[in-house]
Amino acid sequence: MTDPFDQPLNRENTCSVKFDARKAVFGREDVIPVWVADMDFAVPEAITRALSERAAHPAYGYTLFPDSLLDSITDWFRERHGWEIQREWLLMAPGVVPSLHAACMAYADPGEGVIVQPPVYPPFFSSVRLSGRAVIENPLMCDEETGYYRMDLEHLEACAARPDARLLMLCSPHNPVGRIWSKQELEAVLDIARRHDLVIISDEIHCDLTFSDKPHHHMLATLAGPDDALITAIAPSKSFNIPGLGLSALVIADREQRDAMKAVFDSMHLPQCNPFSIAGFEAGYRDGAPWLNDLMAYLQKNRDFVVEAVTARLPGIQTLAPEGTYLMWLDCRNLGLDDAALKRFFVQDAGVGMNPGLSFGEQGSGFMRLNIGCPKAVLADVLQRIESALQGNLRITD
Ligand SMILES: Cc1ncc(COP(=O)(O)O)c(C=O)c1O
Repeated sequence: MTDPFDQPLNRENTCSVKFDARKAVFGREDVIPVWVADMDFAVPEAITRALSERAAHPAYGYTLFPDSLLDSITDWFRERHGWEIQREWLLMAPGVVPSLHAACMAYADPGEGVIVQPPVYPPFFSSVRLSGRAVIENPLMCDEETGYYRMDLEHLEACAARPDARLLMLCSPHNPVGRIWSKQELEAVLDIARRHDLVIISDEIHCDLTFSDKPHHHMLATLAGPDDALITAIAPSKSFNIPGLGLSALVIADREQRDAMKAVFDSMHLPQCNPFSIAGFEAGYRDGAPWLNDLMAYLQKNRDFVVEAVTARLPGIQTLAPEGTYLMWLDCRNLGLDDAALKRFFVQDAGVGMNPGLSFGEQGSGFMRLNIGCPKAVLADVLQRIESALQGNLRITD
């Protein structure tokens, strides 16, 4: 029997950024799109069913967030992550990225500092800059032998000690380097934040995308104490491949901190949502677990396939199996190309559309991010194209 995740899914002409924006982003339509973080898999049937049922009722008016939705969240996190969330701690938000922006506005004044740990998901920078706050960088440390990243806790302490530092944005698991932070690392972060009165926003959108052969993901809140200033951003959007539905939740135990965030959203009239996100979100958390388990087993095979192929067949490129997420971080520095030439090589010579590492901060120079959330046959094609381009290569010159 064929694995359902092997089934090709034609996403062209569905207003998909990943497929339909190729010309605009890469300058050509024929690149294999393995960039933006959504997957080329059909969602769990329970979600499609819930959306169809909702669509069949021809009233699409303004919505509220039903208790059943909030219960689906608390049940999921209790069962899957051992985290007991009180219903009143929840604040629904239109997405995790809007929540990063709102956190800057709620917890730092204009000009004050927000700590980010690059290379990191680009909105970690843009949310700070666009809201008129200042980025304080605590770059991750890369072990050059193994390619394994760690947090620089000593430097984090120095950043936190700055008088203008207010907020720390944690990406956990980390996009793009795929780390699942250890309990010790997370406890050290909490400790630093406590000592320097920092608020932490922990973006745990990838918390369900973890591999069975890698360390356990700890929700930061399960290690925190009642007085820690902690905001957790969660969503089923990555877990069940429904990011286009646009909904997420914030978990904020402290009333004042919750009110501060709510005030920002209210000031823009953003708490509203739509009937479809509510239906899809709840169906994922209620009935998506078996699909998610199968997905992770499939992604694990994709991950190992890529590691093996890169190591054996792509000289000049190195990669390490991520501990979580469906994103892989390819170290292409040994190809000896600058970032513009690297991008040209992958797009023009190989016909592969990945995210350039530089968009994750200057620490990403010489890297590319590969999305492995697609049928294995697509990855085989990607790897074959890169291998052929490398063999006929050095058509690339500056
Ligand atoms: C770390 C991280 N946070 C947030 C998002 C996007 O969140 P949303 O679509 O809810 O705004 C992504 C998407 O790739 C991500 O990787």
